[in-house]
This record gives sequence, structure tokens and C-alpha cells, in this order.
Amino acid sequence: MSAGTGPRPQRRIRSYLNVMSLHVRDFREADRKAVVSLWDACALTRPWNDPDGDIDLALRSREATLLVGSSQDVIVATVMVGHDGHRGWVYYLAVDARHRGHGHGREMMAEAELWLASRRIPKVQLMVRADNADAGHLYETLGYERQKVSVFGKWLGPERPQDG
Ligand SMILES: CC(C)(COP(=O)(O)OP(=O)(O)OC[C@H]1O[C@@H](n2cnc3c(N)ncnc32)[C@H](O)[C@@H]1OP(=O)(O)O)[C@@H](O)C(=O)NCCC(=O)NCCS
Repeated sequence: MSAGTGPRPQRRIRSYLNVMSLHVRDFREADRKAVVSLWDACALTRPWNDPDGDIDLALRSREATLLVGSSQDVIVATVMVGHDGHRGWVYYLAVDARHRGHGHGREMMAEAELWLASRRIPKVQLMVRADNADAGHLYETLGYERQKVSVFGKWLGPERPQDG
């Protein structure tokens, strides 16, 4: 075989390893800044949702967790998962834009589902903002079905955050 033709196995193996190198683990306090930056960059934060407060709530609960996915020690993905004693819920699925399309979103969702299944939660649900068609496509690809329900919400504090 002449030089420059045929497969280049070393390069192919390296790029495969890059794609597969997501390491998923529980959130640690040292991750906080990177996680909030990722959520900001992914447009997941809203003025009425304090991301630090959301992290604290998840950490305080025995029925919730925040998982992070890191690649080469850099946090590139997150998912928050928990249950209310009846159904599982997923929030803050995020993959750094530079790392999308490599199955990280699928992998984080698989970890979230595993977390719930290991606690015998029979069903997982999630909410997708009406203008987030991309996320809808991902969830449909992963076998999620649109539910025939309307979501109602009510703020329990004295003030109602604007637009929340
Ligand atoms: C949605 C998001 C998490 C997807 O992450 P990702 O790592 O690119 O997703 P994956 O590569 O794991 O894709 C998994 C599957 O979903 C599909 N998919 C992902 N993004 C898609 C899109 N924008 N349009 C259509 N399909 C999409 C992929 O084709 C893939 O299917 P396949 O495995 O059969 O090829 C990422 O785009 C993101 O962080 N978006 C901003 C934050 C957000 O909207 N989060 C969801 C809040 S509800």
C-alpha cells in the first residue's frame, strides 16, 4: 500500500476516543462555576430561576442529584434528575455547543434514566419550553412521547417573578 492512501488507524482511534471520553459523575462543589456558565451558554437560565439556588435544592434533596459529564477534565454536559415519590423528572440537560452531536446528550439522559430506574421509579417526565424544537427532537429520538397534559404552575413565595 502506498503512503498516503488507505485508512489511518491511529488517527481514527484517537478521534473515536475523543468522542467516547465523556466521564459522568456526581456534581462536586468545585464544579459550580463551570456548570452555571454552561447553563448560561445553553440559554437554560432565566431571570426567575436562580441556578445556584437550583443546584443547592438538588444537593439538599435525597431524591435528586446533579450529574456532570466531563471530557478531559472539562465539564461539557449536565443533567439534573430527581423524583417526587411518583414520577421522575429531568432538568438542565445541557451539552456544550462545541461537543454536541457526539451522543453526549443521549448518554446523560441514559444516566438519568438509570438513576431513576435503580430507585424503581416507573416513569420519567420532563418539560420542554415551547420554543425549544431542538430538544423536542432529541427526546423523541430517545423514545419520549408528547403527553396529553397541560402543565399548571404557581409561585409559592410572596412575589411572582416577572415572566416566570
Ligand atoms: C439538546 C442537547 C442536549 C443535545 O445534545 P447532543 O449531545 O448534541 O445530543 P446527542 O448527540 O446525544 O443526540 C442524541 C440524538 O438526538 C438527536 N438530536 C440531537 N439534537 C438534535 C437536533 N437539534 N435536531 C434533531 N435531532 C437532534 C440526534 O440526532 C441523536 O440521534 P442519533 O443518536 O439517533 O443520531 C444540546 O443540543 C443542548 O445542550 N441544547 C441546549 C440546551 C437544551 O435545550 N437542553 C434541553 C432542555 S429541555
